[in-house]
Amino acid sequence: MPPADEFGREVTGIRVSLTDRCNFDCVYCHNEGLGDTRGPMAAQDDEMSADEVVQILEVVSEFGVDSVKFTGGEPMLREDLEEIVRRTPEEMEVSMTTNGTFLPGRAADLVDAGLERVNVSQDALDQESFAELTQSGAYDRVLEGVDAALDAGLAPVKLNMVVFEPTAGYVPEMVEHVADNEGLQLQLIEYMPEISGHPEWAIDIQRVHDWLEEQADRIERREMHGRARYFVDGGMVEIVDPVENAEFCANCHRVRVTHDGKFKGCLNRHDDHRPMGSMTKPEIRETFLETVENRVPYYGEYLLKEDGEWVLNDEYIEEPISADD
Ligand code: 5AD
Ligand code: SF4
Repeated sequence: MPPADEFGREVTGIRVSLTDRCNFDCVYCHNEGLGDTRGPMAAQDDEMSADEVVQILEVVSEFGVDSVKFTGGEPMLREDLEEIVRRTPEEMEVSMTTNGTFLPGRAADLVDAGLERVNVSQDALDQESFAELTQSGAYDRVLEGVDAALDAGLAPVKLNMVVFEPTAGYVPEMVEHVADNEGLQLQLIEYMPEISGHPEWAIDIQRVHDWLEEQADRIERREMHGRARYFVDGGMVEIVDPVENAEFCANCHRVRVTHDGKFKGCLNRHDDHRPMGSMTKPEIRETFLETVENRVPYYGEYLLKEDGEWVLNDEYIEEPISADD
C-alpha cells in the first residue's frame, strides 16, 4: 500500500517538473507554484538529469506510487524526454502536460517510449485571443500538436483551459469544440490567483458549474476525485476547482518534484520544499517519506476558515525547511 499522510491521504501519484523553461509566457502561469517562466531557453544547470529523474521514479514506484505526470515549464523543451519516459518504471502510468507546440514530429516517439496520456493547454479558439493569453504566435502549431497526439494514438486528448476573466466568455465555444471533435475532452481549470497574482481575474466557478448543469445530458459526480464531469452533446467536460475547496484538498493524492530536484507536498505551499541531497536512493526514500508524513490539506488544515476568511493555521507558523533561492 502506498504511504498515507496523517489525514489518510495515500500518495498514489507524482507530478515531476522537468524544467522551468517555457517557450510561452501565459499570463496566468503558476509554473508549478514557482513563479515566472521567462528566462533563457537553453538547458539550465539546476535541472535534474534524466538519471536523477529516473531514480526518483524508481524509488516512489517501490512505494506503490503508480502514476507520473511530467510537467514544466514546458516539459518538451527537454531533449531527453523520450529517454525519461522510456526509462520510467513499467508499473507507472505516464502522462504529460504540455503547451503542444513540440508534439508535431515527437508525439509518435513519445507514445513508443511509453507515454499514455497527454493534456494540452488550450484556452481559446482563435489566433488573436490565444496570442494575448500565451504571449505567443504558435496557435496553429498547437492545433497541429493536438492532431499529432491524436494521430499517435493518445486519444482522448484533454484540453486544459484556465477559466478566468479573460477566457470565461470562450467556455461555450470550447465545450462545442470538444463535442464536435472526436477524441477531445475539456478540462476547465479554475484560475488560481494565490500563485499567479491578479486576484481580480478570478471568476466564480460556480457559475460555470451552473451553466454546464443546464447544458449537460448527463452528469457524473466523482466523490473520490472531488470533481464533476459533464457530458454535453457527446463531449466530456470536467471542472477542476481547487480554490478554497477543502474537499478537493481532502482528495489530493499526489506529491510534486520541482525541476531542481526537491519534493513538494503541496502546489500552494512554499515552505515545504525538501531537497534530496546528493540523490542517492536511500536519501530519496527518506525525503519522500518525510514529504508524505508532513503533507497536510491546504484548504481545511494549513488554512482554516474563520469568519468567512481563510487564515493560516497557527500550527504551521514556523521556520521554512529550506529557503528557496
Ligand atoms: N490557475 C489555474 N491553472 C493554471 N495553470 C497554470 N497556471 C494556472 C493558474 N494560475 C494550468 C494550465 C496548465 C497546467 C499545467 O496548469 O492549464 O495546462
Ligand atoms: Fe493542491 Fe490542495 Fe493538494 Fe495542495 S493539498 S496540492 S493545494 S489539492
